[in-house]
Amino acid sequence: MPTVSISLGARSYQVHVSNGALDTVGYHSKKLRLGGKAAIITDSNVCPLYASKLIHSLEDAEYEYSLHVFEAGEQSKNLHTVESIINEMVQQGHDRTSFVIALGGGVVGDMAGFIASVYYRGIPFIQVPTTIMAQVDSSVGGKTAVDIAAGKNLVGAFHQPKVVVIDPTTLLTLSPRVIREGMAEMVKHAAISEQGMLREIQKIATEIDLGFSLSTIDHLPELIARNVEIKARIVEADEQEMQNIRAFLNLGHTIGHGIEASVPYGEILHGEAVSLGLRSALYLSAKYSDLSSREEREILNTLHALELPLQLPPNIDLEKVITLTKRDKKFAAGTIKFVLLQALGTPMVCDTITEEDLIESLTILTQPFTSNIY
Ligand code: NAD
Ligand code: GLY
Repeated sequence: MPTVSISLGARSYQVHVSNGALDTVGYHSKKLRLGGKAAIITDSNVCPLYASKLIHSLEDAEYEYSLHVFEAGEQSKNLHTVESIINEMVQQGHDRTSFVIALGGGVVGDMAGFIASVYYRGIPFIQVPTTIMAQVDSSVGGKTAVDIAAGKNLVGAFHQPKVVVIDPTTLLTLSPRVIREGMAEMVKHAAISEQGMLREIQKIATEIDLGFSLSTIDHLPELIARNVEIKARIVEADEQEMQNIRAFLNLGHTIGHGIEASVPYGEILHGEAVSLGLRSALYLSAKYSDLSSREEREILNTLHALELPLQLPPNIDLEKVITLTKRDKKFAAGTIKFVLLQALGTPMVCDTITEEDLIESLTILTQPFTSNIY
């Protein structure tokens, strides 16, 4: 079973990746001496699929629990849902000895983590991610947040989980669209750190027809663990994004967040917006840095092989995207910290990208992408 350790002093934890790991959540909770009662937070799609397995594991470890289910989708990741779940938890008798279990994709993980960070001024939580997006990215690193009308992820906290339990067999029930969008974050990891991974992702892209098959799932624990390793080392170096290192993980996200928030939440999925944001970021990397057109093509062709969008839908309001992009947290004192690639595996933070550059790179996204042999 691959296990990745995240070393953050008193906030250190482990990420366990193995097929069938869902059965071990109760065991890990006991091992960490989590006392009190568990509040399982999940969404309306994941609950009928995986809650009973998780509950059995908690019962085997003699935990009491309550179950809190909200309607699936990014449109639920808001303060209204947070308040209603917190009210339910109080009614169910949860106090500061309780702990939260986030069972689901990135929406569940971000919101349940945020609830754990504020409930009784902070209680422990466990991440049990069930999408590719959440398994390779959002469950690790302690960023929790919800969206507000003014923009995405604008209310949140750093709150590290006590343990992350990843069961790749849960990915068998994902729709191809959700698999593909999650793999956008793997492409980001490959772009900022590890060159060999793009080819592996291209191979998997050919295996996502109707969803993942059992034979693909067999190979996933190792690949997921490598992605977690990439993120872990960055989080260890710059836990709260103060030193221009964790910012590397934002490659493609600055414009991506603006695009995602410019349409009703859920219309363009997070990973789809990241794919578009990556095309913009690579365009600016080729313009202002040393990224070769061969490397730019290799990354874009991988996104294309995953059938992720590289061209904006016609109804997008470009001005709205720019306004929302400028509201992003990555803007500091009027200057944007924009992540560029100098080469595959070599990201850099650039603070001289102008509004005109953003407009130019968005205009590129109105043009069709054609994949070339490289
Ligand atoms: P999601 O949580 O909405 O999940 C996508 C869909 O898949 C939902 O309908 C969900 O119900 C369903 N689903 C989840 N697991 C399933 C399973 N095993 N089988 C069948 N259906 C399943 O979205 P996501 O793509 O997982 O995450 C996107 C969110 O993650 C965004 O809000 C984004 O901002 C956030 N995010 C956070 C970080 C971070 O560092 N905190 C990093 C990346 C993304
Ligand atoms: N997903 C970006 C980060 O965790 O920093």
